Amino acid sequence: MNITQSAAWQNLQAHCADMAGTHMRDLFAADPQRFDSMHETLHGLLFDYSKNRISEETLNLLCKLAETTGLPQQAEAMRHGGKINISEKRAVLHTALRLPADADPVRVDGENVIPTIHRELDRALAFAESLINGVHTGATGKRITDFVHIGIGGSDLGPQLAVQALQPFHKNVRVHFVSNSDDANIAQILAPLHAETTVFCLASKSFGTPETLLNAHAARAWFRDGGLREADIARHFAAISSNVEAAHNFGIPPDNVFAMFDWVGGRYSVWSAIGLPVMVAVGGTHFRKFLSGAHAMDEHFFHTPLRHNIPALLALIGIWYSNFCGAHGQAVVPYSHNLRRLPGYLQQLDMESNGKHRTLHGGKVEHHTGGIVFGEEGVNCQHAFFQLLHQGTRLVPADFIVSMRTPYKIGRQHRFTVANAFAQTEALMRGKTQHEALAELLHLPEPERSSLAAHKEFPGNRPSNSILLETLDPFRLGMLIAMYEHKIFTQGVVWGINSFDQWGVEYGKALAKNIEPELALAQELHHDSSTNGLIAFYRRCNP
Ligand code: F6P
Repeated sequence: MNITQSAAWQNLQAHCADMAGTHMRDLFAADPQRFDSMHETLHGLLFDYSKNRISEETLNLLCKLAETTGLPQQAEAMRHGGKINISEKRAVLHTALRLPADADPVRVDGENVIPTIHRELDRALAFAESLINGVHTGATGKRITDFVHIGIGGSDLGPQLAVQALQPFHKNVRVHFVSNSDDANIAQILAPLHAETTVFCLASKSFGTPETLLNAHAARAWFRDGGLREADIARHFAAISSNVEAAHNFGIPPDNVFAMFDWVGGRYSVWSAIGLPVMVAVGGTHFRKFLSGAHAMDEHFFHTPLRHNIPALLALIGIWYSNFCGAHGQAVVPYSHNLRRLPGYLQQLDMESNGKHRTLHGGKVEHHTGGIVFGEEGVNCQHAFFQLLHQGTRLVPADFIVSMRTPYKIGRQHRFTVANAFAQTEALMRGKTQHEALAELLHLPEPERSSLAAHKEFPGNRPSNSILLETLDPFRLGMLIAMYEHKIFTQGVVWGINSFDQWGVEYGKALAKNIEPELALAQELHHDSSTNGLIAFYRRCNP
């Protein structure tokens, strides 16, 4: 089905033309209670979507679009283990990872996966606790003080986000991340550490990702250089992979290898054993709360009508801007230093999932799919890219994520930061008219006054969503991440694409394999002249 030919799509196009001259200021003036009908709350999370260029009719039309594309049926198929990842013939069951142990069976190829999930979860949590409480010591009997997680993409970004976000809940083992193949990354992490008190965790679903294996071998060499024996690897290395055999072949004993499942994509895997660094950082009780928060969002997503369904609304409003209003991207702005990794995490989750140009069955899509996601922590970004959001020529909707409480009690930093977040959403929505700008400049003579007022005028009508968390704790973090997962799923269903494969990243990997030996050898080059020139310059710099 070509969705752009559907009545639902075309009704939205016509409605977009009708809405073109409407300013959000007018929408708020016409309905002073607009917030009441355009916000949702769930377990200490508030989602305010009233500062958008939408009316009740827009929302109804968007919900119709979602129904036309079969969103409710697709969500059910995902939940029950349907193989909705068609190109890889796989089920998509990250939601099963956060189901309680006594949940109804979820079957893949006839096998109930719930007992397997909980067996691996319990093993990983027990390992994490043994590091935290000092029962698992290093080979020389010393307590483990540092845990180095080596992985990339989905095997890195989720755990890194969660470990940083939950800093106030940290226990006594320091957790570090190595992802980049650039040697500066691993060199800087290892410099202050000691082999006797360090545990490495090699995280790779495939156990074949070259960056991760390169760093794994560097870690192993560093470990031996630190005076420990090859046999000591058993106490100092763990692995998380669905390729358990390859992890064993690396020399990691079965007890330290935690399984991943092929029905969970890398970027959706923080809820699995890939969350081991989070478990080590915050302990089992908090990790289980993180899972419960995600499960609470799943329950909401699977059982709430679309008009009040938080992830679905977030998705549909995004579709409104990108497919009908010509938006150029999506800003993600967490007003929390501890959530500074959220934009990077969402870049992978969103762009790797929905950066697709083919429909589920291989046809060419007739509309835009995933947009450009970017962001930075507030308030820093106010002093960076916010100028463009306020006065640029492009439409860039923004999500503001703000925690209402802080565990830190330093000055009035937190209240100041929250005030800035709220003020930005107000300024983006209201703008400043020429008349208001002129009124601020009464002290200036003409024509200087009018000229400066033109620069100080803000168009406003710039959309934002506010996602407020009572507090940034494991439960709310779980809800927040699951909310974005379901947003991305919803958009993928409406666009008719497969959000769960990633063929686009494979090609560059294959070419890199050819180029690496060419950097070292003086053999003739057969690339385009640009690539040849780059290789030649490298050779000149490394004779
Ligand atoms: O970037 C491509 C990718 O395949 C991601 O989807 C994945 O999260 C990452 O590489 C790492 O893969 P692995 O966990 O198999 O090392």
